[in-house]
Amino acid sequence: MDPFKFGQVVSGSDFCPRPELLQTVMTYINQGQNMYVQGERRIGKTSLIYEACCRLKKFRVIYVDLFGVKSSDILAKRIVKAIISMEQKESGVFSKIFKTFSYLRPSFSIDPITGLPSVSLDATVKMTPDDIETVLDLISAIKTAKKPVLVIFDEFQDVLNIKDADETLAMMRSKIQFQSDITYIFAGSLRNKMDEIFIDSDSPFFKSAVLVAVGPLTETAFKDYIIKRFKNGGRTIKEDILDRIFEIAGDIAGDIQQFCSALWTITSTGDSIEQDNIPKALELIFARESKVYEADIETISEQQFICLIGIAGYGGKELTSSRFLMNIGIPSSASVLKALARLIKLRIIFKSGNEYKFTNPFFRAWLLYKNF
Ligand SMILES: Nc1ncnc2c1ncn2[C@@H]1O[C@H](COP(=O)(O)OP(=O)(O)OP(=O)(O)O)[C@@H](O)[C@H]1O
Ligand SMILES: [Mg+2]
Repeated sequence: MDPFKFGQVVSGSDFCPRPELLQTVMTYINQGQNMYVQGERRIGKTSLIYEACCRLKKFRVIYVDLFGVKSSDILAKRIVKAIISMEQKESGVFSKIFKTFSYLRPSFSIDPITGLPSVSLDATVKMTPDDIETVLDLISAIKTAKKPVLVIFDEFQDVLNIKDADETLAMMRSKIQFQSDITYIFAGSLRNKMDEIFIDSDSPFFKSAVLVAVGPLTETAFKDYIIKRFKNGGRTIKEDILDRIFEIAGDIAGDIQQFCSALWTITSTGDSIEQDNIPKALELIFARESKVYEADIETISEQQFICLIGIAGYGGKELTSSRFLMNIGIPSSASVLKALARLIKLRIIFKSGNEYKFTNPFFRAWLLYKNF
């Protein structure tokens, strides 16, 4: 069976050790220190938090995924659902908490497709920012002396997409700051947006939590992890091939695992993984993803496309230099900056320090492969 997992949280034996960072998160949780966990996409934020929670055991964990929230109604309901799910897992009975939310008519069902249990709430009952306040108060009621509560708001930056984001954030902050016995973890990936919430002095969350920055896994530890997995499946892989994988996948844990999974699929027990397996593995990834790349290209202008190909070919640094402008054949740096802004907005690229990078490194590899 393919030992490489991607696009999902990894824990236990699937979790490649990152002892220092894990220890930092565990220490903060034990101290009741609120934190915001920030890092690039698919770098391992959620897995890190989840692993820390698994190891600490004693906490009652309320995990709220805020991905795509657009209104305070949705936000409040996500929190309610997370509380009910946690309650169900913990006690399996209709508890006090459940009764409190009876006006939302919670119902449980098994999703026919995934087979996973899910909670649904009455869509006709709309919740307001005031309800979020009540819901956060209720979280305090859940804790017991033996089992403190840990609340995780994942993809927290999406709160900024709520129409009355300022009001909602201010209200959340005013509640959370008095809940000293509950630990809150805010995780997010879009750096600028998380900064807007936690380091912008106008933000209600300014300096309210410590930063835990999640970067790439230590290269030696991750290489060992990968070599072992290939070996257990009767395959060998050399250091220089691994270097190539890390380079193409831009040191992002999830993308490296995706690449290894493709290499696994195209090889068999007894094989030694060689250079010529790399393009074949990439082709497998492209076959699965190229529809998405094509759709992205459809939505951008010619100049934006030229810039994108330029970044793929020449790298993402110094994009307003006369050299880059000459290479791509666009005379004005203002035009390039405009194109970059649009590509960032579409989340095709992002800015990391002084470098523009592809959100999906395989999109870059595909552009190069297509030789546009
Ligand atoms: N410690 C780890 N050991 C091995 N693989 C890991 C580790 N952390 C992350 N990964 C890989 O990265 C993938 C994404 O992990 P995770 O969902 O935790 O990242 P994330 O930063 O929360 O991503 P997103 O930004 O999409 O929410 C996993 O499916 C796995 O392939
Ligand atoms: Mg995540």
